[in-house]
Amino acid sequence: MMLSEFPLWPDQASTIAPSVDALMTFMCIVTGTVSVLIFIVIFYLAIKYRRTPENQLAQDYEPPKALEAVWIIIPFLIFMFMFVWGSWLYFRIQRVPDNALDIYATAKQWMWKFQHPGGQREINTLHVPVGRPIRITMASEDVIHSLYFPAFRVKCDVLPNRYKEMWFQATKTGRFHIFCAEYCGTLHSGMTGWVEVMEPADYQKWLAGGAEGSLASQGEKLFQKYACNTCHTNDATGRGPVLLGLYGTNVMLNNDTTVVADENYIRESILNPQAKIVKGFTGIMPTFQGQVSEDDLLKLVSYVHSLGTQKTAVVPVETPSSFKTSAGSPLNPGAGSSPQNKGKKP
Ligand code: CUA
Repeated sequence: MMLSEFPLWPDQASTIAPSVDALMTFMCIVTGTVSVLIFIVIFYLAIKYRRTPENQLAQDYEPPKALEAVWIIIPFLIFMFMFVWGSWLYFRIQRVPDNALDIYATAKQWMWKFQHPGGQREINTLHVPVGRPIRITMASEDVIHSLYFPAFRVKCDVLPNRYKEMWFQATKTGRFHIFCAEYCGTLHSGMTGWVEVMEPADYQKWLAGGAEGSLASQGEKLFQKYACNTCHTNDATGRGPVLLGLYGTNVMLNNDTTVVADENYIRESILNPQAKIVKGFTGIMPTFQGQVSEDDLLKLVSYVHSLGTQKTAVVPVETPSSFKTSAGSPLNPGAGSSPQNKGKKP
């Protein structure tokens, strides 16, 4: 592309990059043209109406109403056009495609740690396949960072107390920059890395290179290590809610509101169990704040996510109101179709 030859622009290497550049270019042209016009008019009027002997006093001048209407309506239409275009693009960037491959990221002063669903881990380098939507779920272990892929035109703040997610789909193979885009301390400028976009076959080969069991299976071990399984049993006899089939469903809480069981809900329920108590249960679960590292949290969340695909034991008990995690509720038709497993090797 012509733009990528222009040294001000990084590579256009994702599906949304051309759209972002088009909007950016349009806005630069509009604002640049208007700025130049304003300067030309300033100089022209300054000279034309300079003080002369016949022109000592200012004169009142009422511009015609039609002219006033024109300079209100035209900029309004231009701004509305930018607004609609910008929101259309914003929603495209925000909405993660359903078939996205999951990757988990942890930021800390001063490095990026990435984990693949198969358990592969890497630092300051991220391997992804080309032509496939990638969803990155991320959290920070300390301060606010921001994960920025200039070539993909996506950037997202990484926060210490909740998960954020972003997605992209690379359109060409190669090696592209990763930057931290939020000042995070002395070595902020050194918090960089590379994303390696590979052919799907090469990516599979790379994945086969090494792993300590899938992320979910490592999470399952932690689930036992922290004795979560003593209360969260697979039938309704446990002291805690059943987690099978939970992910992506609507959960009824004891204050009669519902919440979607997504990554942030699961994370919060581990760190701050009292925040949202499932209807029919009491807040007896201890907090795991400070005991589980961000890496391990991701594994646990990934395990609970993987349980979402197993909806066997979720049968309403005698008192149906006590527990409502109706798998596949009408609000979440796709619930349980976890993208988690799609990333796994066959
Ligand atoms: Cu991390 Cu700046």
